[in-house]
Amino acid sequence: MRSKLVFALILTSSALAACRGQTSKDSPIVGIRNMYDQPRYDVQSESSFFSDKRTMRPAVEGAVSREMETDPRLVKGRLEDNSGYVLTIPQESVASFGGMDPMLKRGKERYGIYCTPCHDGTGNGKGAVTARAQAGGAAAFLPPTFHQDRLRHMPDGQLYATVENGKSNMPPYGQMLSVHDRWAIVAYVRALQLANPRLGDEKPDDPTATVQAPAPVPAHHVEVKADRVVIDHKIHFADGSAVIEADSNDLLAEIAAVLIANPQILKMEIQGHSSAGGAADVNLRLSEARANAVRDALVQRKVPGSVVLAKGYGSSKPLVTPEATDDDKEKNRRVEFVILETKANK
Ligand code: HEC
Repeated sequence: MRSKLVFALILTSSALAACRGQTSKDSPIVGIRNMYDQPRYDVQSESSFFSDKRTMRPAVEGAVSREMETDPRLVKGRLEDNSGYVLTIPQESVASFGGMDPMLKRGKERYGIYCTPCHDGTGNGKGAVTARAQAGGAAAFLPPTFHQDRLRHMPDGQLYATVENGKSNMPPYGQMLSVHDRWAIVAYVRALQLANPRLGDEKPDDPTATVQAPAPVPAHHVEVKADRVVIDHKIHFADGSAVIEADSNDLLAEIAAVLIANPQILKMEIQGHSSAGGAADVNLRLSEARANAVRDALVQRKVPGSVVLAKGYGSSKPLVTPEATDDDKEKNRRVEFVILETKANK
């Protein structure tokens, strides 16, 4: 105890003595050299101590740093139950910039630094790196244009994940961009897509054309998953009938556009499901008629008839049992889109 105290006194007095406000080119005087002299590993060198031989230790499982965002919607762009990507940019991220305008400004700036070299300022995929790769014969390294339906209909969360993790030949940018900067870039890519519907692979503007190309679908309510196509709100029918209400037109148009943009889907079953109240045969007929109405609506919107089948299930496959409340009934009354066959699994 006493020796420690003496040592501390010596240290403080020598520190004070050295503190004369001058700079020096000499190496610093260090009281205890143990820290400098002890054996240590270099970065990335192999460790003989840990069984996995890694010197640079990963964080202990479950460790959460104070700065770390943990909400999977924000950090991964995935829904809380990990069942899919979030369809739109989380509001928290927009709020962190103080609104969409400043977010887009930031996104534009970051995009200019991190994405323009390959994807070009317009998002047509013809950046400087691409030109060099092409000139050097590395044609595999060609980024796609953002102005194509598949990428227009990609959920915002999937765009985010592409920025974070990269994809095949595209490197990941997660380490260089904060969570919110990644979202800001997503917002800017959406802005580019809205601004340039005819760039990229599409035909150049025909000056004599009177009809403009359709703008990309601004809303995202439809997502293609491995085994189904999911919508985030319902198709509305008139009470007790198979007549689709007009307020569902936009949703139907988006479902059709998504199916057309995903030709790998070879067969999809449109399932009509009803609630349990009422006679079973009536339910079955109504659910069948509603599935058929949706199929007709999609075929009208240019989805190939060979891709879509319709089937009524009545109340045989409820989501909620027992149907205790009106809310439960409403949940069970639904249309589902189940993918039966894709190019990959044929
Ligand atoms: C070094 C070049 C390079 C940079 C920089 C780059 N990308 Fe890419 N990107 C690519 C390539 C190459 C592909 C095609 C990947 C593949 O083979 O599918 C691609 C694909 C994509 C796709 C399509 C993914 C899909 O599912 O088809 C998106 C979206 C994308 N990039 C967004 C971005 C954004 C946003 C940035 C800026 C943060 C960025 N990229 C930076 C090269 C790059």
